[in-house]
Amino acid sequence: MSSQPQTALNPLAEAANATIKAENATVFALLSERGKRFFFPAKGILAQGAEAKAKAKTANATVGIATESGAPMHLNCIGQYFQGLTPAEIYDYAPSFGKPDLRQAWAKKQREETPSLGDTLTSLPIVTNALTHGLAVIGDLFLDPGDEALSSDLMWENYNLSWETRLGAHISLYNFFDKKLTGFNLESFTQSLFSRKGRKLVVALNFPNNPSGYSPSKAEAGAIVNALIAAAQAGSQLVVVCDDAYYGMFYDPACETESLFGKLANAHPNILAIKIDGATKEEFVWGLRVGFITYGVKGGTKALYDALEQKTGGMIRAVISNVSMPGQSIVLKALQNPNFRAQQAEKVEILRKRAAVTGEACRKAEYADCWDVYPFNSGYFMCLRVKGVEAEAVRQHLLEHHGVGAIALGKTELRVAFSCLTEAQIPVVFSAAAASIRALQKK
Ligand SMILES: Cc1ncc(COP(=O)(O)O)c(C=O)c1O
Repeated sequence: MSSQPQTALNPLAEAANATIKAENATVFALLSERGKRFFFPAKGILAQGAEAKAKAKTANATVGIATESGAPMHLNCIGQYFQGLTPAEIYDYAPSFGKPDLRQAWAKKQREETPSLGDTLTSLPIVTNALTHGLAVIGDLFLDPGDEALSSDLMWENYNLSWETRLGAHISLYNFFDKKLTGFNLESFTQSLFSRKGRKLVVALNFPNNPSGYSPSKAEAGAIVNALIAAAQAGSQLVVVCDDAYYGMFYDPACETESLFGKLANAHPNILAIKIDGATKEEFVWGLRVGFITYGVKGGTKALYDALEQKTGGMIRAVISNVSMPGQSIVLKALQNPNFRAQQAEKVEILRKRAAVTGEACRKAEYADCWDVYPFNSGYFMCLRVKGVEAEAVRQHLLEHHGVGAIALGKTELRVAFSCLTEAQIPVVFSAAAASIRALQKK
C-alpha cells in the first residue's frame, strides 16, 4: 500500500499553530489534522490586491471583478430587484472573513445580548454562509475521523450529515429531558461528560432546541456551565459549540435568555467556546444565508483569536471563497436601522402567541391517551412523544387523511413547527394528530 504523501505545512499554518500552542496548548490539541494544516493565504493574491488598493493610483489591475464607471459592472435586469444598496454593496466580493462593518455590528449585538461576557476578550465574529456552514467549518477545524461529539438525543439531524457522514466523526447522545419530562436532564449530561473524563470532546449545545423548542431555566443553564467546568477541571479538553440558531425566541420568563457562550467564553482554559449564530431565524431571513462563528476561551489573547480567525477564514476561502455580498449588506443595514429591535420584537410576539395557543391545544386532557408533550418554552417548534404507535406512521396518516404536515423524528417524536401555523390552525393540527394516532392505535 502506498502511503499518503505528506505535504509540508505552509509557513503561515506553522506560524498560526505556534501562536495557538504558545497561547493555549489545549486549543492546539483540539484542532483536527485539517485544522492544523489550515491558514489564510494572506500573502497571495488577496494581499497583493489589498496593497494595490492602497497604492495603485494610476490603474488597479488586481481585482477579479469587472468594473465600469468606477463601480462593479452590472446588468439592469438584475439591478432592478435591489433598492437602497449601492452596486458595491450588491455585486462586489466580500472578504473571506466577512464585511468588516458587519462583523463589528454583530459583535456589538452579541455583547448587548450577553451581559455575562462582560469585558471578556473574544474573537470577532467571522461571517459564514449561515449556521449550517458555520457548523461545517467547526467540524472541519476540530473533528478528525473517529473523534467524538456529544449532543442531546433531541437534535437537528444535519449534525449527523455534516459531522458523521461528511467527516467521519461519531456523535454520542445524552438524554435531553429527564424521565418525567420536567426539564433538562442534568444527570444524563453530567454522566456523559464524566464518563469521557480527560478526553477531547466536542459538545454541541443547542438552545432554543430544535426539535423540542426547549431552553434551559437560569438554574439549569448555570448547572450546565458548572458541569462543563468540572469536566474541564478534571482534565477534559472541550470544544463547546453553542448553536444559537433560534436565539431571542423566548416565551417564558423562566428561560435563560443569554447564550451560554457568555459564561463559557471565560469559564476555563480547557474549554474553547464557539458561538454559532446568525440572522437566519432571528431576523427571519432564511434564504439570505448570513451566519457567524465566534471564539472565546478563558485567558484568550488577541494573538490566539487572530490565529483562529486566520484558520477559519482560510477554510472559508478554500470552500466557498466568501459569503453573499447582498445578504451581508442587507443584514448590516438592518442592524444599523433604529427600528430593527422593535420590528424583531413584533415578530417574536406573534410567535409567543402561537406558542401559547400551542401550549393550550396540545395539553388538553382529552389527548392524554395520544401523547406526552416535551417541555417547550422557546424557538420555532414543539415535540410530541406519541403513545403506542410509531411517529412515522402518524405522520403519513396525518398527511393522507387530514392534509396536515408534521415531521417524524426517531421512533416516537412528532415535531410541530408552530412558527408556521396561524393561531386558528393550531388546534386543528392537534385534533387531527389525535384522530390519526387513535386510528392507528386501533389497528
Ligand atoms: C439547530 C439548528 N442549527 C442550525 C440550523 C441551520 O441554520 P441555517 O439555515 O442558518 O444554516 C438549523 C436550521 O434548521 C437548526 O435548526
